[in-house]
Amino acid sequence: MSRKIVVTSGKGGVGKTTICANLGIKLANMGQKVVMLDLDIGLNNLDVVMGIENKVVYDIADVIEGKCRIKQALVQDLTYPSLYILPSNKIFTTTKINSYNIKAIVDALAEIFDYVIIDCPAGIDSGFHRAVYSASEAIVVCTPHISSIRDADKVLTILNSYKLSSVGFVVNRVRGDLILNGQMIDIGQICNLLKSNLLGVIPDEDSISMSRSMSKVQTKGGDSFEMLAKNIHFCQNKIFDCKSQYKGFFGAFRRKIRSKC
Ligand SMILES: Nc1ncnc2c1ncn2[C@@H]1O[C@H](COP(=O)(O)OP(=O)(O)OP(=O)(O)O)[C@@H](O)[C@H]1O
Ligand SMILES: [Mg+2]
Repeated sequence: MSRKIVVTSGKGGVGKTTICANLGIKLANMGQKVVMLDLDIGLNNLDVVMGIENKVVYDIADVIEGKCRIKQALVQDLTYPSLYILPSNKIFTTTKINSYNIKAIVDALAEIFDYVIIDCPAGIDSGFHRAVYSASEAIVVCTPHISSIRDADKVLTILNSYKLSSVGFVVNRVRGDLILNGQMIDIGQICNLLKSNLLGVIPDEDSISMSRSMSKVQTKGGDSFEMLAKNIHFCQNKIFDCKSQYKGFFGAFRRKIRSKC
């Protein structure tokens, strides 16, 4: 059965689109048929992160308005043939973009793909509800900052009112060096605060902000996304240790260098 996963957060800019993109890449790399749906209408950038913006002909609004079929709007990934993107439109062109029409599209995609990954807009207004309504599972993204954790907590509470089969969270932009220095909240403390299922920890890494780097180079960030994908696909519980590279003699050296960046 297909899995329809919404990636949401409450707070903006915490890495939803980055996690959607890299999760999609890793799942496709594991042989899964994956489609990513950008529901951040008006502020969409999944196409840019995936490097397919020049290949976009139709978008989700065109599908809803009947200007094209769903398959015509899908853009195949440049590297992984089993990975597709359904782009969003740059402006809110039609009032027909509502929860029911989006659910119909998601359900139609679920007939073809193993995974439908939905990139949710920031906030908890209509865009959030439109995205969550069509999903069967949710991943809440937060960063190790109190404001982000508080928003994630609110979102986790709201998600309780939806009939989702699974809800978990991912902590993004974690700096092991700062945790060891006592300057960043530890993952265990975040788990205690959120009381939800920890699905993954992603380090703060320059290479992650460079689009699609994860698929090409073997990096710590790439490993952490692979663990996340495996946790989701195989229901595993392996969490990337952001601190390990900063421990020991060489680790202390790395910490010193990082603190100067
Ligand atoms: N682990 C990371 N390490 C370094 N940079 C990251 C990481 N995750 C995300 N970023 C960077 O943070 C910025 C925001 O990420 P992204 O666009 O994925 O967030 P978002 O939650 O989708 O934002 P929005 O709420 O605006 O949709 C981007 O520049 C991205 O490259
Ligand atoms: Mg985004």
